[in-house]
Amino acid sequence: MKQWWKESVVYQIYPKSFADSNGDGIGDIVGITEHLDYLKELGIDVIWLSPVYESPQDDNGYDISDYQKIYKEYGTMEEFDRMLLEAHKRDIKIVMDLVVNHTSDEHKWFKEHPEYYIWKDAKDGKEPNNWGSNFGGPAWSYDEKMDQYYLHCFSPKQPDLNWENEALRNEIYEMMTWWLDKGIDGFRMDVISMISKDQNFPDGELNGLYGDHQPFVCNGPRVHEFLKEMNEKVLSKYDIMTVGEAIGTTIEEAKKYAGEDTNELNMVFQFEHVEEIGEKIIGKWTDKPIPLPELRSCLNKWQLELEGKAWNSLYLDNHDRPRAVSRYGNDSPMYRVVSAKMLATCIHMMKGTPYIYQGEELGMTNAYFDHIEDYKDIETINAYREYIENGLITEEDMMNCIKTIGRDNARTPMQWDKTKHAGFTTGTPWISVNPNYLGINAKDALKEKDSIFYYYKELIALRKKHPIIVHGVFEPLLESRKDIYAYKRVSGDQELIVVCNFTEHETKCGLFEERAGGKRLISNYKTHKKGILKPYEARAVLYEKNI
Ligand code: NOJ
Repeated sequence: MKQWWKESVVYQIYPKSFADSNGDGIGDIVGITEHLDYLKELGIDVIWLSPVYESPQDDNGYDISDYQKIYKEYGTMEEFDRMLLEAHKRDIKIVMDLVVNHTSDEHKWFKEHPEYYIWKDAKDGKEPNNWGSNFGGPAWSYDEKMDQYYLHCFSPKQPDLNWENEALRNEIYEMMTWWLDKGIDGFRMDVISMISKDQNFPDGELNGLYGDHQPFVCNGPRVHEFLKEMNEKVLSKYDIMTVGEAIGTTIEEAKKYAGEDTNELNMVFQFEHVEEIGEKIIGKWTDKPIPLPELRSCLNKWQLELEGKAWNSLYLDNHDRPRAVSRYGNDSPMYRVVSAKMLATCIHMMKGTPYIYQGEELGMTNAYFDHIEDYKDIETINAYREYIENGLITEEDMMNCIKTIGRDNARTPMQWDKTKHAGFTTGTPWISVNPNYLGINAKDALKEKDSIFYYYKELIALRKKHPIIVHGVFEPLLESRKDIYAYKRVSGDQELIVVCNFTEHETKCGLFEERAGGKRLISNYKTHKKGILKPYEARAVLYEKNI
């Protein structure tokens, strides 16, 4: 079915690190408005804006204290309205982050409506069960006034909401309606797969110091009922885009969340290819690369199994992930550009809606800060402390893990130009700028016609020109190869063949020689060798079937 969000490319903005217009070292809304022309030049259709609401910033805005106010360091509601207007003038839609699994403990509901949260009595003088929080420590905190524990799957300053409470659900729907009536174009829903908890709250399997809560909070008993209700009461009334962050989702669950006819969401972010594959040291932490066969079989499975039933989101990085080129490509000076283009080809030619995370279009790399003091992320800092203090990992290994997959790798300021602090701020940035900004920045990228930026622009333009990129059926190719990711897309008489060499070595591949004709749509090399793929070479070639 033709739907605008299937044909779109989304660009994620992490406001704190995007552009600072007033020199306080923190990105802001005016900074975003000032760069809308840059995004227009890139050609994206939709901005996903990470939270800009009032918040004590325990988790950079994913801890909201007022859903209908703008965080003062980011600006005012008038500035927000202007940004929305200016974006719409440029045909760019704005999708807001909706964080309704939890609020900040400074939200007025936490005092005025304890029934909106999840409270339990102590068990044997301790926490009600053994669950750990995603940000370290137990998932329960004691509150003296209530003489009970409240649940927080993230930090103690992010108490989980009690979706069993109908009045709370209606307040959330009202708030969503208020934003949609303002003219926003949809929601990215934070950890939406976690809103319905197993009401027995059983102990979880031990994983490190605490029990794993995931099986009891993800894809819970009423999650689909709640989303159908939200859809009926709010979403179905607007022509919008919705994407659910579906931590812990399986294919079967995803078909319900994002099914073509299930009346819940348009698509989900699944986590398997970014979190659930590859070797781990402890919890989510690793310093090992991801083997291509694992990445490929995971992505292929999602492509094949959602075909005709639900819609995929396509991404390699976001504000919670390391930089794509550092994690899946090769960020050495020799291969950074070519491997970033290869990864972009691989993802953007698949079936689904592609997401670009700010700076990905420049090939921004991991920060690789050497000292824990340089990191600001609550998850990183807490894990470092908890694991090292308890002797679960050495400091050296933990620092390697943080450099490999820590969230701050994606949160260093956007690299705009060669001036101090990469043109992000005239003040002191809240987190250090990646020192490589002198060689990697938007101003240079815009001057260089072979830059990664223009390669993304071309990929986006191709999507508008060739419906096969949006609608073609996905078929895997060369699945036994350890170095190549290849697939085709099929639509009517057309076939689009996409081949990506994931290594720095030349490798043999005869796919393009096997058939005559074909029109090269895009490649990260100008010339090709017969039967060979160059290091990190990517090529997409369109064939008319009967030729
Ligand atoms: C997922 C968000 O993407 C992440 O940044 C945040 O820390 C957690 N949800 C909690 O809201």
